[in-house]
Amino acid sequence: MPHQIRKAVFPVAGLGTRFLPATKAMPKELLPIVDKPIIQYAVEEAIAAGITDLIFVTGRTKRAIEDHFDANLGLESALAAKGKDELRDMVRNIVPEGINCIFIRQAEALGLGHAVLCAEPVVGHEPFAVLLADDLIRGATLPTQALVNAYAQQPATTLLVTRVPREEVDKYGIIAPAGEVNGGAVPVSGIVEKPAMDNAPSDLASIGRYVLEPEIFEILRNQPPGHGGEIQLADAINTRARGGQVQAVTLSGARYDCGSKFGYLQAIVDFALEDSTYGADFRQFIAARAQGLAAE
Ligand code: G1P
Repeated sequence: MPHQIRKAVFPVAGLGTRFLPATKAMPKELLPIVDKPIIQYAVEEAIAAGITDLIFVTGRTKRAIEDHFDANLGLESALAAKGKDELRDMVRNIVPEGINCIFIRQAEALGLGHAVLCAEPVVGHEPFAVLLADDLIRGATLPTQALVNAYAQQPATTLLVTRVPREEVDKYGIIAPAGEVNGGAVPVSGIVEKPAMDNAPSDLASIGRYVLEPEIFEILRNQPPGHGGEIQLADAINTRARGGQVQAVTLSGARYDCGSKFGYLQAIVDFALEDSTYGADFRQFIAARAQGLAAE
């Protein structure tokens, strides 16, 4: 198949300062939503979209991510010895057969664009996905699949976008759509990283899922630092957009910004409400709390 996306890059070198002290010795990507680490949701989303090679761009203090996606034979046999076969299978299948995990160290945190560039030796000359685990998404069609589908229809750099309140445009890469946004892929004529409200080309924010083409590496290599003095992925995408090589797909489903404490809490509450074991009890608990708050 000519346009199959086989590889996904997970930039996970960020320090997670917003979650200190929890992230002093633990990667923020391993913070759990109920009982599953944030990064595992993104990995499952990539695998569900047909991706077989998972490329993690890591940094210091991130070794636990490697351990999480490695086999733990000691744990597996301890669980088996206790007759906990279901748990053992669950642990074993965190990385299903046929899926490869590759780890690359980003020695210096020079920005998202730089993290993606670090993956070039493994990605090679083929299109690939990028997933920012902080953006946790729940829905019937997960976004990586939606981007892979859009790329198969029209090979181009493909972004995921959603509308955000005007006051929040300075937290995102904001796109300039070059057409109607009506459910299908829309051409993108530019993207600005974290613009001030007055300079934002729209209220359509790029969310942490991308399908990129290998040409992005050459652009990133020659690109000066941008917003915040970092090598920005959005700037490289902007170069592609000016050449008419970028499209955007609209997010469907719920998004939680797990890079912020508020978004993280929202995710935990929503996932707990839907939990097959605790959901019913948790709903009662929340309803009682809400009644109490309303009476205050
Ligand atoms: C990054 C990107 C930005 C994008 C955002 C999505 O920013 O640089 O373009 O809109 O992710 O979550 P960060 O949140 O890492 O500052």
